Amino acid sequence: MRIEIVTLFPEFFKGVFSQSILFRAVKAGKLEIVIHDLREYTTDQHHQADDYRFGGGAGMVLKPDPFFKLFENIVDGVKPRPLVIFPTPQGRIFDQECADFLSKEKHLIYICGHYKGIDQRIIDRWVDKKYSIGDYVISGGEAAVTVMLDAAVRMIPGVIGNLDSAMTDSFRSGLLDSFQFTRPEWIDGFKVPQILINGNHKNIDLWRLAVSRLVTKHYRPDLYKKYWNKNGKLEKNSSS
Ligand code: 6GU
Repeated sequence: MRIEIVTLFPEFFKGVFSQSILFRAVKAGKLEIVIHDLREYTTDQHHQADDYRFGGGAGMVLKPDPFFKLFENIVDGVKPRPLVIFPTPQGRIFDQECADFLSKEKHLIYICGHYKGIDQRIIDRWVDKKYSIGDYVISGGEAAVTVMLDAAVRMIPGVIGNLDSAMTDSFRSGLLDSFQFTRPEWIDGFKVPQILINGNHKNIDLWRLAVSRLVTKHYRPDLYKKYWNKNGKLEKNSSS
């Protein structure tokens, strides 16, 4: 997958791509990253990327001309056309389904917004998809892009060593993950559940599913309802 990121803060991504899943994906040749410094495409002598809002009011807005100048090259000139994504609170709430969809794309371009926002004509002319990472405001798109990238890239086959592990992640099945334990068996009076130690894998699987359901029902009744509507009747009929 080829990913391009348009940002005023290219330094932000240095750490992001030098560690963890995203770094491994680049090293494994599954991911190619290009960071575009928006300031290099500014057209005035002060390299100003933002400007006052038409109509007045506090807060600056990212100017359209640097984007148009850049996108004429990296979008218009490219076949097949890359998918342009703008992270914004006005977008669809980003979930696992969105991550799976993006993981199948070959070429993505992310725009990082800042200040009060970006000129609407950039969105009207260039943006294909808008995503929000939740109902709160963060001051720049960089952190949102990082979240969406991690979620999508880890679903590219061959990126994480154990795809089995990704497939049993929270959200994949519609349920939150079960509790996890490792050694030691005892710590400060807290013990690992005995069923996980006895080695009966059928029982362990049943226990994990039961915990997943309880945890989901307790913490995320909205997810549980969705899961039950999808799987509940089916399970009821097939269980003896
Ligand atoms: Cl994608 N960007 C910003 N700035 N704030 C957000 C967001 C994105 N998603 C939720 N809040």
